[in-house]
Formats: sequence, C-alpha cells, structure tokens
Amino acid sequence: MASFVTITYILTLIVSNFATSIISKSDAPKYEPNWESLDSRPLPSWYDEAKVGIFIHWGVFSVPSFGSEWFWSLWKDQKNEKYIDFMKNNYPEHFTYQEFAKDFTAEFFDAKEWADIFVKSGAKYVVLTSKHHGDTLCGLLNTHIAGIRKTLGHIEILLIIPEMKELVETYKPDILWSDGEWEATASYWNSTEFLAWLYNDSPVGEYVIVNDRWGRDTLCRHGDFFTCNDRYNPGILQSHKWENAMTIDIASWGFRREAKLADYYTPLDLISQIASTVSCGGNILINVGPTKEGTISPILEERLLQIGEWLSINGEAIYGTTPWTAQNDTLTWGVWYTSKGSAVYAIVLHWTWYANTLPLSSVMGLFDDRNTKVTMLGNEDDGNLEWFLSDAVYIKFPDKSTVKSEWAWVLKIESNSADNDV
Ligand SMILES: *[C@@H]1O[C@H](CO)[C@@H](O)[C@H](O)[C@H]1NC(C)=O
Ligand SMILES: *[C@@H]1O[C@H](CO)[C@@H](O)[C@H](O)[C@H]1NC(C)=O
Repeated sequence: MASFVTITYILTLIVSNFATSIISKSDAPKYEPNWESLDSRPLPSWYDEAKVGIFIHWGVFSVPSFGSEWFWSLWKDQKNEKYIDFMKNNYPEHFTYQEFAKDFTAEFFDAKEWADIFVKSGAKYVVLTSKHHGDTLCGLLNTHIAGIRKTLGHIEILLIIPEMKELVETYKPDILWSDGEWEATASYWNSTEFLAWLYNDSPVGEYVIVNDRWGRDTLCRHGDFFTCNDRYNPGILQSHKWENAMTIDIASWGFRREAKLADYYTPLDLISQIASTVSCGGNILINVGPTKEGTISPILEERLLQIGEWLSINGEAIYGTTPWTAQNDTLTWGVWYTSKGSAVYAIVLHWTWYANTLPLSSVMGLFDDRNTKVTMLGNEDDGNLEWFLSDAVYIKFPDKSTVKSEWAWVLKIESNSADNDV
C-alpha cells in the first residue's frame, strides 16, 4: 500500500454559531502531555449543547460506491469474493483502485445545497472525512475535522502530527475526530504531545473537542468524548461525554448504489436513536455518504429533512438538555427522558394505544403536586393535558389531528418537585 491518492476538494459550510463559551486565553490552564492532565480539561460547553451532528464519508470509495467505504481493503487485502466478482464483472482485468480517482468528479457538488440540507436537518456541527483508511498510506492516523462556526476551506489529505498541526492552524476546526488509531499505541502516535499542543497552544485551544481514537489504548478511555465502537449507544447513563456515530444506510458509511429502500433507517428509527442517545448523555453523529458526483441522494436528503422537521417541533427536548434522574420509563417501553431547567421531557416513541392515555412510572414523583403541568410540544390545541395518579401517572393524550409531530411525541412536564440534578 505504498501509493495513495490525493484528493483535494473545496467545501464551504456555514452551519451555525455555537462556540460561544470562550475562556480567556491567559487564564486557560496549561495541560501536560499525559492523559491525567489532558483528561482534567473541562468539556467546552458548545458540544454538549449541540447534541446532533452530521458525519460525511466522501472519497475515492464513492466512485465504485459498492458494498462499503472499505472497498479497497475488502477487495485487495481481504480478497472478499463479493468485491472480486464486482470488479471482474464490471471493470477491465488490471483495473486498479487508484484508477477510480479520475471519476471522483463532483460535477454536481454545490456547497450551498449541502449546507442548506445540513441546516434544515437540525444538526449543529458537521464532521468531514479528510481522508479515510482505505485511501491512505498504512500507519497514519486518520483525522476528520468539523467546522460549525466558520467557513471551511480546502479539506486535504493529511498524514501525521506535523500535518495535523498544519490542518488545525489552517482550518481552525471545532472538532478533531481521529480514526484508524488501532494501528498503534498513543505513545507511538505522540498523541498526548499533540493534544497538549492542541489544548494549550493551538488557535482552537479554547473550544476544540476531540474524540477518543488516539491510539489502540485510548478508545472509550481518553478524550473529550468517547465513541467506543461505531454505533455506540449503551442505553444507560454514562459518566463521561460520549457520541453515537451512526449511519442512515444500515450497512455502509460511504454511498453504495446497490442499497435498497429497506437498507435505510426509517425516520422513527433515527428519532429513536436521537432520543435514547441524548437521554443517556450522548451526542449523535448521523452519517451520510455523498455520491462521486457530489450529490446527496434524495433518500438521505429526505431522512435529514425528516429529522429536521421533528427537531423543529421537538428540539426543545434535545438541544441544551441534560440527562434526567431516569433515562427511560420503567413501565412503558420506548419513552426516553431529558431535562432542562424545571422541565422534564418525556420523548414518547409510540402513540399511546389504550384509551388515548399513556401510563408513566418513572415520573410519578413529579405529580405529587396538583399544579404539575403537562403539555405536548407541537400540539396546536396548546392546552394542558389531563392526568391522574394511581399505580402510575396516566396522561391523556390530545386528539392526534391537532399534533404536528409525525413520529414521536414529546410531553413537557413542569413541576415544583422536579429534581433535575443527575
Ligand atoms: C513521535 O515523536 C518522535 C520524537 O520527536 C518522532 O521521532 C516520531 O517520528 C514521532 N512519531 C509520529 C508518528 O509522529
Ligand atoms: C430501558 O432501557 C434499557 C436499556 O436500553 C432497556 O434494557 C429497558 O428494557 C428499557 N425499559 C423499558 C421499560 O423499555
């Protein structure tokens, strides 16, 4: 794997302005190049508030757009039959992976169109693949960068720490999402030295966030947020900030042309992931794989817009929230809790089936007081919902025709006895 392909493309994204909580540089503590010191850094607040991001996997693998973004490795290293047959049936005998690069044409790429879709999706940050395992030299750390506050210019393939420093200085990313760490240990990569530089001396030290993939010994252990495994969604509250990096296409991070409708998560699947992730203290990073022509396929666009529509009604229960005492209801399946100020939000994934009345157990303590108010977000009737207390609290749902949300419904519970401390 001595040769590799350089792709340079220009992407301009302005998503939103989140990194507002800036500590003045002179007061900033100095971090030492060891995990104990680096792990003591407080998480810049914009990231936890943002909750939803978009991940983009776009590269030479988008040209064959078959199977997965690991195309090269599956075909050549792992000699996977499916990929060997695909090449045999569709390409000349000695065709090389590198020859795909000339067809990475991006002729329909329109940065404004992408940015519009991302803004409408309700996502607050975007993480781009600047290079990917299959498309690079062996033994180099991959880095994805995110820009949420600014224009991102060139995204280039980068190699090792000196190039990462250059990338940071040039593009001033808000997130460094490193990958491919399993090739070596953090000490081989000089990761702690790099991160101490990033936090102390780089132009983004006050607000940058990094993930946990800095060596095969750091996953789920060190970093501003933990990604653990891909699609990590533990279902229970975590003590450290984490991120669920997942895809809309069930099987691949890169675009693949053979995907069927059933291979894409439904809007409810995705909203259910958002709800369970945020309830347990995570952020969600939703991946799309653009085409080699530079378009986002209509099915992916539709899913992003559907998420955005849901968030435009129910985002109050997501953005800027903190986990509540309970994460999901102990009685009714598919109800996830978040909280903000004196409000507790119950995200109800399934419309109640019994007499239009939903029983909830975990929030009973909030209903000791007759003045407890329950409303449903996006209910055009806008009134307080009736409730009564017995073995559970039973909440009377509004008429379905008066509610805007199509997939999951949020009850806002406001009580004097709300205890939102976790
Ligand atoms: C780590 O740092 C050492 C000493 O400065 C250097 O020789 C080595 O090339 C660096 N390794 C990487 C992967 O950057
Ligand atoms: C609550 O979530 C946990 C973890 O995902 C799950 O095991 C449990 O079954 C859920 N409870 C209900 C009532 O859905």
